[in-house]
Amino acid sequence: MGFVQKNLIYCLLFLSLSTLSVLSHLFSPIDDYLIDCGSTAETTIDGRRFVGDLSSYNTPLSSSARSISFRNEVPVLGLSPIYRTVRIFTGPTKYVFNIRDKGTQMVRLHFHRFNSPEFQLSDAQFHVLVNGYVVLSNFTRLSTDNPRIVEYLIRVDTEKLVIMFIPNKNSKFAFVNAIEVISAPKDLVPDTAQYVRSQNIENFDGLSKQALEIVYRVNVGGPKVTPFNDSLWRTWIPDDEFFKSNAGSERLYFSGRIKYQAGGASREVGPDNVYNSARLIRSKNDSIPNVNMTWVFPIIGGYKYLVRMHFCDIASISLGLLYFNVYVNGNLAYKNLDLTSITNSLASPFYADFVVDGDNSGILSVDIGPSESSIPHLIDGILNGVEVMKLNNSYNSLDGEVSADMVLKCSSRGNMGVLFTFVAAVCILLSISIIIRRRMMGSRDSVPWLRLPVSASDDNIKMGK
Ligand SMILES: *[C@@H]1O[C@H](CO)[C@@H](O)[C@H](O)[C@H]1NC(C)=O
Ligand SMILES: *[C@@H]1O[C@H](CO)[C@@H](O)[C@H](O)[C@H]1NC(C)=O
Ligand SMILES: *[C@@H]1O[C@H](CO)[C@@H](O)[C@H](O)[C@H]1NC(C)=O
Ligand SMILES: *[C@@H]1O[C@H](CO)[C@@H](O)[C@H](O)[C@H]1NC(C)=O
Ligand SMILES: *[C@@H]1O[C@H](CO)[C@@H](O)[C@H](O)[C@H]1NC(C)=O
Repeated sequence: MGFVQKNLIYCLLFLSLSTLSVLSHLFSPIDDYLIDCGSTAETTIDGRRFVGDLSSYNTPLSSSARSISFRNEVPVLGLSPIYRTVRIFTGPTKYVFNIRDKGTQMVRLHFHRFNSPEFQLSDAQFHVLVNGYVVLSNFTRLSTDNPRIVEYLIRVDTEKLVIMFIPNKNSKFAFVNAIEVISAPKDLVPDTAQYVRSQNIENFDGLSKQALEIVYRVNVGGPKVTPFNDSLWRTWIPDDEFFKSNAGSERLYFSGRIKYQAGGASREVGPDNVYNSARLIRSKNDSIPNVNMTWVFPIIGGYKYLVRMHFCDIASISLGLLYFNVYVNGNLAYKNLDLTSITNSLASPFYADFVVDGDNSGILSVDIGPSESSIPHLIDGILNGVEVMKLNNSYNSLDGEVSADMVLKCSSRGNMGVLFTFVAAVCILLSISIIIRRRMMGSRDSVPWLRLPVSASDDNIKMGK
């Protein structure tokens, strides 16, 4: 075999092996429900197939649902097609998902307020429960500009995950545009973190049993990372609005390969696009700069928060040269962090989890600063990413001192007469609009809203319970 052919074969072998290794990195969740609410069709976004909640026999939407779907015939430019349809609930309504992979589930809810002649979505005020946790209460005042996406990590030990939308008794309805329920990788939420309180650090056990709401997910020093570029279809926003001190720090972008290792952070914990950018403190002369890099996150007091910090030494020229301190809420959380001793490699990701009490100051702060072992003329601190997650309180709520029972009791006392009147009013409005539409012959194109089939049967509406 000639030299060229041999090389060609090696080359092909190498290519196929590297393709295999890339493919083996792709996470494929066992439970993966992507629901385009209010739609009959399928919508594919970045290769992900969102199924309409009217399109299949085994739709997760519970059959007794009192709901109406709408489609926006005038799509907003640049907005994902999943926001073109919406499901509107005029009474408490459930989506029930069968869970094959017990453990932590990622739940994302998408809301986009639009204007329609029939429904003023701005009037909607509602509660959302996920398996007995209150995730949103009195949820309202959504902006019309950008969709609002909320995300939760919820441990499911049963065979079902139930998401329930409950209109507030003073409001008329609830709504949702899209729902994602995805089984999380097993290493995403470990059971133990460090509980940092004043000068004490102790173990916080049972973390995986808490319901978590993702409050901030930040790519430090780098650009926004979109679901397309994330291993778990997450969004990471740039850190500029949270970063408070510029003195002596710099951004760094790394174009080499991020070396994921067993035991360290996996690609599902943080994607390459998060670990390959950072902010750092660099000492330029014989003295170590006496500065911190500080990030400040607005929070709501009265909850515990999980702060996950992502580190990857993409800056040092060699092993064993980077030492720094990590502070959370002004308390020393990690003294003399030495990434080499943990990863034994450069460009290898690591993350640390800290639990703190969110106090009434309304902020949560994170500092990175040089430590007593920091070395002059070198890097003296680095941070690649931060996530801030809220833990449920003792009411099993992520949104106020209200339990699922309280929410349900409140709504069942809700006035069904009002509901009936409301549904009747909607029917009248719709018939009027149909008459007007018929009169405006030929001007069909100017009618921006089409009504899709109502999933609730007429009986349900007539009974009005
Ligand atoms: C919702 O707000 C009303 C007042 O507007 C309050 O009475 C009620 O307790 C709140 N409900 C929840 C579940 O937070
Ligand atoms: C994905 O990341 C690459 C570089 O990391 C970037 O060039 C590209 O624009 C990103 N794509 C999306 C859809 O965000
Ligand atoms: C080192 O540089 C900083 C500014 O970069 C300066 O403030 C400091 O005085 C310098 N220290 C020495 C010992 O030159
Ligand atoms: C860095 O932050 C910690 C915690 O807030 C603080 O104790 C320390 O004094 C700060 N160092 C500097 C140089 O500001
Ligand atoms: C969150 O909910 C779990 C499960 O009900 C409970 O054990 C835990 O104590 C709650 N967390 C807090 C901080 O109260």
